Parts: sequence; C-alpha cells; structure tokens
Amino acid sequence: MKKIGIMTTGGDCSGLNTAIQRIMHGASLRGWDVYGILDGTDGLCTNPPAVVKLSDMMLPIENARLAGSFLHNGHSNALNFETAAETGHLDTFNKKLRKSLKTLDLDALILIGGNGSLSLAWANRSIYRDLQLVCIPKTIDLDIPLTERTIGFDTAVQQLTSFCDQLMLTARSHHRWFVVQAMGRDCGQLALHAGIAVGATAILIPEIKFDVNNLIKQIKQSPVDYGVIIVSEGISLRGHSGRPADMISRKLTSAGIPNRTAFPEHTQRAGDTTATDRILATRFADCALTAIENGETYVMTVLENDLVHTVALSDVIENGESVADPKIPELFTSNAYVNSDSPLLALAYDMGIYIGELK
Ligand code: F6P
Repeated sequence: MKKIGIMTTGGDCSGLNTAIQRIMHGASLRGWDVYGILDGTDGLCTNPPAVVKLSDMMLPIENARLAGSFLHNGHSNALNFETAAETGHLDTFNKKLRKSLKTLDLDALILIGGNGSLSLAWANRSIYRDLQLVCIPKTIDLDIPLTERTIGFDTAVQQLTSFCDQLMLTARSHHRWFVVQAMGRDCGQLALHAGIAVGATAILIPEIKFDVNNLIKQIKQSPVDYGVIIVSEGISLRGHSGRPADMISRKLTSAGIPNRTAFPEHTQRAGDTTATDRILATRFADCALTAIENGETYVMTVLENDLVHTVALSDVIENGESVADPKIPELFTSNAYVNSDSPLLALAYDMGIYIGELK
C-alpha cells in the first residue's frame, strides 16, 4: 500500500478539483492512502504540516467540476520559494519543507502547478529526493513547454469567449468596439484562441509585433461598425504606460473610433470546468498514478499528438525559453509561447482578423 500526497500551487484555474478528485478516486481503487496538502507549500511550512486525508466521501464527484481548489493555492503573503529567495531565507524554507515531507512519510507527491511552480520545484529538487515527484501541468496561460494542453486552459478560453459574446451584442446596439484585456502573462495563447472563437476584429498578442495605424485602418475598413478587439495583458506600446487595453482604447478614441474597455480578469480562472478540461484532468490523473506505479520520479504528464504520457521534468525545463525572475535573477522560469508557425495565426490572418504584422 502506498501513501501519496497532492498539492496545488501557483494561481488557481478551473479543472484542479477534477484532477484532485480523480487522483483520490484512482488511488483509493488501488488501495492507497491520499493526503491533500493545504495551501501548496504553505501547508508544508506549518508544524505539523497542514494536510487532510482525502476520501470519496469528502470529495463528492458532483463538486469536481467546480473551479478553485479544494486544497487551496496558498496565501498571497505566504512564504514560498520566491518570497524565501527574495528575503534570503531559501535554505530555512527548504529545510522546513524537507522536514515536513519526512514527517508525512509519503511515497509520492503529485504536484499540480504552473510553469513557475514547476521551474521552482526543479530548481529545489533535492527536497523531493526521498519520494517520487510527479507533476501535472495546469494554467490558463498555456505557457508550459512540451505539452499541447494544460488543465484550465480550455475553460478559460470558454469563459473569455462567453464574456466577449455578451459584449458583442451591446457593441452592435451602440455601433462601437470593445477592447477586452485577456490574461495570459507574456503568452498570447488565451487571447488567440478566444479571439478566433469570438470572431474578433483584432487580436494583439505579445509574440507578434503590431502597428496601431494598421489596426485602426483595419477597424475603419471593417464591413460592420462594431466588434471586439482582444488585447493580451502582455503587450506593450512604445512610449505608453498603463493597462494595455486602456492604451489601445485611447489610440482608437483619438482616431475617432467609439469604444469601451472591458476586463474579464479572474473570471477567466473560474467557471464550471468544461468537458474537455475534465477529460484532460482525468487523463493526467490516471497517467500520474501509473507513473507512480512504475516507479517514475521528477516527471510531468503531457499531452502530445492526442496521447498522454510523462516526460522528464528536466526536459520541460530545458525545452522552454528561460526567463529570469524580475525580483530574483538567479531563479528562472521555463516558458512556452505562441510559435510563429502556429496554424491559428495563419487562420486568424486568413479570416481577416488583424493579428499584427505577420507578413
Ligand atoms: O498565471 C495565471 C494568471 O491568471 C495570469 O494569466 C495572470 O497574469 C496572473 O495569473 C494573475 O495573478 P493574480 O492572481 O496574482 O492576480
């Protein structure tokens, strides 16, 4: 019989609860004990560690579709790898984590995290040397290398699409445009996917340079006098500051284009988990449990060519673009972006959406 732990770290997204419930259920079928670590690494910093024993009774299957994490994702002011490194307490922090993991005496830990958490887990990997570490990628940003999908992305695309769909109706009534700011950090996947789903007039993402004059020209040439322009939160406009949607909105206003801004913000991380995300969470959960049975460690589950399997965490880190943490230069995050050969960019262009200076 095995004893495994589950931990959700970094920002939440929809689909975490499906993953937790499926792991717990699959593990109980195998006769294993499952412990949920509360609040990510926060829960390992308390003495004794903050954990709950999970069971089918505790996590009703009908609640598995709900956004957020049953296990929470941590307090914003908590001590974590980043804040500990920033304040020079990384060694003490790592010692606390190692001590808690020893106390818990787990055979394996399933870490459900984004690229920040996974990169930090790899950088501090010695903490996990006495157990099997199996990671599951989750994020609405879809910026984790080697996997075609992450838990939470599909639901976020749906949430942003529904938000824009509603705006489109009022936009038409008032003959104006909405500049909608999408999340995604410095990755444009969320904006790109939702923009295509909505039929946006323009999609601006950090990976593709854009020219405001060409954007304005395209809006003015539009066959209709309303629409949605999706602006990724990671874009910048030389000589301007403030929120990206506000910057673009000001430019449109001065060009005589009536518009408003709209910010879906954290609703992109909420919403009932879509069937696609639930299936992905279930596949990743099953793959993680099989990886534990096979004795794997320091691995991450991925979706590749519609198949789910594990890859070495070191490969995930090596295959991304290394971005230094702005506050702690010695810490790096491994990032993935929209590729210039993405078929979705070509599709958007062919459909007459202004996607930046592609050609
Ligand atoms: O990484 C997920 C994400 O939702 C980003 O898209 C966004 O920039 C950020 O987290 C928001 O973080 P917070 O919850 O700290 O506002």
